Amino acid sequence: MPVSIQRVSKTYNRYGTSVDALDDVSLNIPDGQFVSLVGPSGCGKSTLLSLVGGLETLSRGQISRTGQPAIVFQEAALFPWRTVLDNVAFGLQLRGVGKRERRDRAASALRMVHLARFAEAYPYELSGGMRQRAAIARALVLDPTVLLMDEPFGALDAQTRALLQDELLSVWERTRKTVLFVTHSLDEALILSDRVVLFSARPGRIVADVAVEAPRPRDTADPPLAALQRHLRDLLAAEVEKVARAEMDADWEGAAVTAPSPEQNVGADI
Ligand SMILES: Nc1ncnc2c1ncn2[C@@H]1O[C@H](COP(=O)(O)OP(=O)(O)O)[C@@H](O)[C@H]1O
Ligand SMILES: [Mg+2]
Repeated sequence: MPVSIQRVSKTYNRYGTSVDALDDVSLNIPDGQFVSLVGPSGCGKSTLLSLVGGLETLSRGQISRTGQPAIVFQEAALFPWRTVLDNVAFGLQLRGVGKRERRDRAASALRMVHLARFAEAYPYELSGGMRQRAAIARALVLDPTVLLMDEPFGALDAQTRALLQDELLSVWERTRKTVLFVTHSLDEALILSDRVVLFSARPGRIVADVAVEAPRPRDTADPPLAALQRHLRDLLAAEVEKVARAEMDADWEGAAVTAPSPEQNVGADI
């Protein structure tokens, strides 16, 4: 099991106040599985990735993980003074890999995301989608056992996002990395993953953990997927409404969140 999360809770203590971010979360992720984590904003999705990635310490429970993870964030955060190739090769440089080998490996990671032509470009010359592809290459080049992705396509326009989803699936089909993918879009989760884990409003608890068995490429308009989407959307809407209730004035009716919506991003920040 590359990632095993057992009864994990996380409380942040800051400036004398404490915030319960996660409560009693357990999740076993088999090798090669593509898992999406979905939930209202602030429910602890990023916290869980940070815990799995070893960037934060947990308050209770246990996480075990084999090998090294790599993380891709919403913002690529490339070094502006390095070429794309040198950005991708940087992690290998830190690990003491020789120049020749790291350039070869970085070039092959860039080919994997179809960005080889821009190896010698600088980040400012890339579009947002290309920067995220570079960020994925930078993670892949480390040959991680687990790829942790925190809303990696969240800042992209819809068309670019769809392209990057395809790109990621083709990388995943070739490498069969275990992927933990955070998104607030149910649509994205259903298009991509083998399994969708839905979290409650803060403190995050698992409210649904469902397998998505439809063959890829997927279309969320297909009846079985559409039915699953409706089911998860209702669960998610209820959690999003809890967040809104906690944030809004007492006279708020809640109609905007509970009304059925054709928009799939019901978990988006409101
Ligand atoms: N470093 C931190 N210190 C204090 N509170 C934090 C920290 N990181 C996150 N939180 C709080 O923990 C909760 C969960 O945050 P986060 O994991 O970022 O949620 P999500 O990614 O689901 O939006 C939020 O209430 C957030 O404000
Ligand atoms: Mg987050």
